[in-house]
Amino acid sequence: MRIPGSAIVILGASGDLAKRKLIPALAVIFEQENLFDSSVIIGSGRTDFNDHDFRGKFDVHGKVKDILFYHKGISGLKRYIEQKGNFSRVIFFFALPPSVYSDTAKQLFEEGFRDEARLIIEKPFGYDYESAKTINHELHEYFHESQLFRIDHYLAKEAIQNILVFRFANSIFYPVWNSRYIKEIQINASEKIGVEERGSYFDRAGIIRDMVQNHLMQLLCLLTMEAPVSLDAEDIRIQKLNVLKVLSITDCMRYQYKGYREEPGIAPDSPTETYAELVLSINNFRWYNMPVYIRAGKALNRKGTEICILFKSLPRLLFNKSGGIKPNRIVFKIQPSEGIILDLSGKIPGSDFFISETKMKFCYHDVFGDVMQEAYQKLLLDALLGDRTLFVSAEETELSWEKIGQVLDSGSIEYYEKGTMPATHPLTDWIDFEDYETACG
Ligand code: NDP
Ligand code: BG6
Repeated sequence: MRIPGSAIVILGASGDLAKRKLIPALAVIFEQENLFDSSVIIGSGRTDFNDHDFRGKFDVHGKVKDILFYHKGISGLKRYIEQKGNFSRVIFFFALPPSVYSDTAKQLFEEGFRDEARLIIEKPFGYDYESAKTINHELHEYFHESQLFRIDHYLAKEAIQNILVFRFANSIFYPVWNSRYIKEIQINASEKIGVEERGSYFDRAGIIRDMVQNHLMQLLCLLTMEAPVSLDAEDIRIQKLNVLKVLSITDCMRYQYKGYREEPGIAPDSPTETYAELVLSINNFRWYNMPVYIRAGKALNRKGTEICILFKSLPRLLFNKSGGIKPNRIVFKIQPSEGIILDLSGKIPGSDFFISETKMKFCYHDVFGDVMQEAYQKLLLDALLGDRTLFVSAEETELSWEKIGQVLDSGSIEYYEKGTMPATHPLTDWIDFEDYETACG
């Protein structure tokens, strides 16, 4: 698909996100799509830079530096862009603190940007249902929903996009994808690192706002939604909304790692959770009476994002008279070492019917080699193309906040040692995802 000539403006260009993610991702896109003659990248912010000093901040190819410019502030930006060329699209990436999103949209509108503008907005998108609604309302005062691209970088992960393909392009799984055959779904997002230098942000958020409300709820929607009528962003959005509408949270446990309160930016009496377990139910015909378990946390014993689809046990007949046969599982390894693993029972060679667990593996690395695209590359390219499939709509964000609202900041906190998995009150018999660690290593 051809990308129209665009001016890409990074607001907050002196910050960490621009340096670590955005400019490197744009550099690759410009290289791959050969956009050097038709597009420009303009950094903007309150800091004073000349083009030379701004370019010096980034470790990118000379050709990229040549189309990199800096403009201080928003006032005068429209004219500045017009002097650089005739662009049919102006893409604004809000690499800014969320507190200034609304005011920045207003300034852009007052500067004269209209239908040609697209606004890419980073998380966190709101703090709760009310604040998300307010931001949406304020943004909609100046720009139409179709111009807003709310980022959830999990949607750009290959292994997450593959969930829809796995479900709807393989006829063998479709008939069993319901609570008649599936006992439970587990979603796990473990991180080894603690809050590091992001203490002041994280302490206001906690792991439920930081990971569950957005990334893991999106994952859950993709796992459980009905087939969309097409792959258009709007048709997928409708199905995700249908899941969110019937979702309820039935239990939640919150934990904090010991030593968290001594970290920079954290209140000495902080009640913020760094690990949480939740139980959810999806109250529709397909998923009636089947729990979904989500756990996410920082400073745990390992890094890994996985999903387990745990099927129901066999009846106690034939090979399973003693109840010893493990139910089938499908494990989606989202990261690291992406893959899908199907746990089966197989006969151990020999004259008796001894049964052992075996794994059928699809590992991305083995099949496709190292072709994984960086999430920001995919997101920025889609925004340039105007494809909103991987971006989150206003309604999804609000509904997700509304549902998660009932467990935010409530209930007691338990404590765990850094580098361990909290296990005081597990909400289910968690799959040991470490067993799958080397499956696609
Ligand atoms: P930074 O703190 O590095 O800030 C980005 C820039 O925003 C600053 O350099 C500053 O530029 C500008 N800025 C700061 N305060 C204000 C203000 N009050 N009004 C106007 N401009 C301001 O943030 P990051 O780059 O780390 O993150 C940017 C956004 O992306 C945030 O919303 C963050 O939550 C989100 N995000 C970041 C991730 C990351 O990996 N860094 C990951 C996921 C999301 P100047 O002073 O020049 O105006
Ligand atoms: C971000 C959260 O959205 O996702 C971080 O703010 C978290 O706290 C990160 O570490 C995890 O992303 P990934 O891609 O490393 O799983």
